[in-house]
Amino acid sequence: MSNYHIKHLEEYYQVYRKSVREPENFWAEVAEEHFMWRKKWDKVLQWDFKKPEIKWFDGAQLNITENCIDRHLVTKGDKTAIIFEPNSPDEAARHITYSDLHERVCKMANVLKSKGIKKGDRVCIYLPMIPELAVSLLACARIGAIHSVVFAGFSSKALASRINDSECKMVITSDGSYRGAKTIDLKGIVDNGLESCATVESVLVVNRIDAEINMKTGRDEWLQPLLDEASVHCAPEIMEAEDPLFILYTSGSTGKPKGMVHTTGGYMVYSAYTFKNVFQYHDGDVYWCTADIGWITGHSYIVYGPLANGATTVMFEGVPHYPDFGRFWEIVEKHKVNQFYTAPTAIRALGKQNIEFVEKHDLSSLKVLGSVGEPINEEAWHWYNDNVGKHKSPIVDTWWQTETGGVMITPLPYVTPTKPTYATLPFPGIQPALLDESGEEIKGNQVDGRLCIKFPWPSIARTIWGDHQRYKDTYFSAFENMYFTGDGALRDEVGYYRITGRVDDVIIVSGHNLGTAPIEDAINEHPAVAESAIVGFPHDVKGNALYGYVTLKETGESRNQDNLRKEINQVITDRVGAIAKLDKIQFTNGLPKTRSGKIMRRILRKIASKDISNLGDTSTLLNPECVQEIMDGVL
Ligand code: WTA
Repeated sequence: MSNYHIKHLEEYYQVYRKSVREPENFWAEVAEEHFMWRKKWDKVLQWDFKKPEIKWFDGAQLNITENCIDRHLVTKGDKTAIIFEPNSPDEAARHITYSDLHERVCKMANVLKSKGIKKGDRVCIYLPMIPELAVSLLACARIGAIHSVVFAGFSSKALASRINDSECKMVITSDGSYRGAKTIDLKGIVDNGLESCATVESVLVVNRIDAEINMKTGRDEWLQPLLDEASVHCAPEIMEAEDPLFILYTSGSTGKPKGMVHTTGGYMVYSAYTFKNVFQYHDGDVYWCTADIGWITGHSYIVYGPLANGATTVMFEGVPHYPDFGRFWEIVEKHKVNQFYTAPTAIRALGKQNIEFVEKHDLSSLKVLGSVGEPINEEAWHWYNDNVGKHKSPIVDTWWQTETGGVMITPLPYVTPTKPTYATLPFPGIQPALLDESGEEIKGNQVDGRLCIKFPWPSIARTIWGDHQRYKDTYFSAFENMYFTGDGALRDEVGYYRITGRVDDVIIVSGHNLGTAPIEDAINEHPAVAESAIVGFPHDVKGNALYGYVTLKETGESRNQDNLRKEINQVITDRVGAIAKLDKIQFTNGLPKTRSGKIMRRILRKIASKDISNLGDTSTLLNPECVQEIMDGVL
């Protein structure tokens, strides 16, 4: 018998020990007892971190939508699967039952088929947080197409590069989206992007805002009339456990975004099992994760994990500050939310507002609070605990990554005693290790190092789409036989982990991972710019904000600096997206470089953070004189 639902600390330790001593038996029991397989696996796990190659449940066959929808129909057909809460509180919320969801997914799947989409084809989904987004993911999964969701805040260039990288055949989008008091012209962004995408044959358009838009004949079609015609029957495509389920792009420290590939069986088992335990979900609970489905948190913990457990999951289209800063708490009260999962940046932004926004709402339904995306600072942790949880709802500080597919280090609420700013203990099956720079594992407690994972878990990404070598170089080459996370961590005296942040050039701004390279590439395309370097600096709401050091070409030096700053941020908005705009831009005559020509970001980071008491060794610099000049001009 597997312990699918862990209820107390002793049980956690017992389950954890088993997951490490007999990982194959452990995962086989979880998979066998709680999921629906069309055919059982031949082998639970095959792995080699050197190649790297990882296979879970190889030989098994299944369809994830049968697990997320069909199998609930008999007992939960009338239960709400998704509560859709629109951008405006004036628009009524919609309850979509498991039966409704089944019908909608089957119809959508038939529409995809009628447009020639087959197993293995890539479909790009660029939609706001409306029900069609969840339905589109599931419809792809129903027929074995690989979905690639692109967050609908990315620019047309960023969208195009993701479409081209995975050669998508179709794009599903909407005429526009609501964002607080504004509307955004999504279809216009898609049209621009598609000018440079040769592989896209069709575009399906959801009518969300009744906008007048261009429809390209032969390529674009409104979705609704097609759905109206579609059959409600669609047999699930039988998939191999290791067939890709989706691609999701994440920023790297260098180069273009990485299309992380997640496969079907292992991802399903791990996202569902973590959901059940990390949120202690009980039948009848209403669960709400405020993330966007454009990120991994939304894939695993709005769609797949909750639905595989037959849960009720809230999808919110809007933003925390519209029509006012009480919106989140109003929704908690309205839908009697039991588990609430958000990001530290949202907590910090809400914590700065008048406390009345929280206090005027009845939050007594809450049982569990979650945090994800970046380290949660002590002040935000206490604000969340005091004012939202009222000291009775444990906070689960969940550490994980796009690459890991599911939560890796986390307290289990009502099971693991929490400690502010600590993600605490590894989830069953996860074997963390801290390594020093020479690659030695640091044993014992009260130590810090680079966070690695020693053993595979079912939802680890299997490769980077089209670039297996990069997958190997990024995650399996820094330390022998280990998955390297890119994060630093410390382990306290009782073995609790605290994540200290990225140790590479990825900067997390408001919970979004941003690689420095694509932003620098964008800036450098401005005709007046010779060179640039981006670093993060502490920001009290965003966690980190971006600081750009920009060296101008001689021709640019006479230009008005404020105008240049605006233009630079516009280039970034066009090429990457508004989330990557710089908070500060300092013009410099040069950037500190090593003799091999590498920019010394360490120094730039310290200056931007106004932490200049100890800049470290600058003697190896090619141009040490520029350091003083940069310090004098710091913003
Ligand atoms: C950071 C989001 C501290 C970390 C699920 C990681 C965190 C990166 C936490 C992955 C946390 C995520 N505490 N840091 N609880 N959760 N991170 O791919 O640096 O968008 O490597 O996945 O976010 O971000 P990603």
